Amino acid sequence: MRHTRLALVSVLSTLALGAVAMPVAAQSSASAELINGLNGKLLYVGVPITILVEAILIYTVMKFRNNDDPTPTQENRRLEITWTVATALILLFVGVASYGVLANENITYQPQAENAAGEAVNGEQQKPVVVRAEAYQWGWEMSYPEAGNFTNGNTMVVPEDRPVVIRTTSRDVIHGFHVPKMALKQDSMPGQVNSIKTVPYETGSYQGYCTQFCGVAHSQMYFTVDVVSQDEYQQWLDTQQKNADSS
Ligand code: CUA
Repeated sequence: MRHTRLALVSVLSTLALGAVAMPVAAQSSASAELINGLNGKLLYVGVPITILVEAILIYTVMKFRNNDDPTPTQENRRLEITWTVATALILLFVGVASYGVLANENITYQPQAENAAGEAVNGEQQKPVVVRAEAYQWGWEMSYPEAGNFTNGNTMVVPEDRPVVIRTTSRDVIHGFHVPKMALKQDSMPGQVNSIKTVPYETGSYQGYCTQFCGVAHSQMYFTVDVVSQDEYQQWLDTQQKNADSS
């Protein structure tokens, strides 16, 4: 028993050390950072529990496999209190960690907050860039209601390191706005506007999908989110607004 316990402790501590030493990959957006961070924290808890339970199971099966004279389990108050307290602590950790992420506005966005003074990113106070993402059978129309209301087909262009609010809706049936790499997902409903917010951290082109089965061309309902530098974004915005004015 002593050896088993020792082996168990060393396996668990090696794993815990490994998890702490694991490098955290750069995240593409504030939302992705929060979600992947929570996933990592829950893995610290989930993986050791899985290994502990499996180890006890295998140990028990091996040890008692040929027992001709089984004795009933004895009450063990200390053991029962231990696992009750341990479970309560683990659930408390899971609850607090999850609540911290769910309550963040980059995960659950309250549109009322939009009219506030803006948000500090890297110490700077910034008003969010607002993009409207309107879904239809079968495509997307991205428009900029607070920057001249021009439209840009199924490509959304947003600046990095600035808060971005996406207001999504639908012209016909229910669609789903989803950019997996940026951890963005929201229902696009007819007659309703749903908002999500994030801060893109990495420039690049991100593939977006429709996630509600919406008819024959559902699988082709792609869109793109281009995250560009703030200067590039300003240039692009100026060109778009000039084109909109002259037409
Ligand atoms: Cu739109 Cu599926």
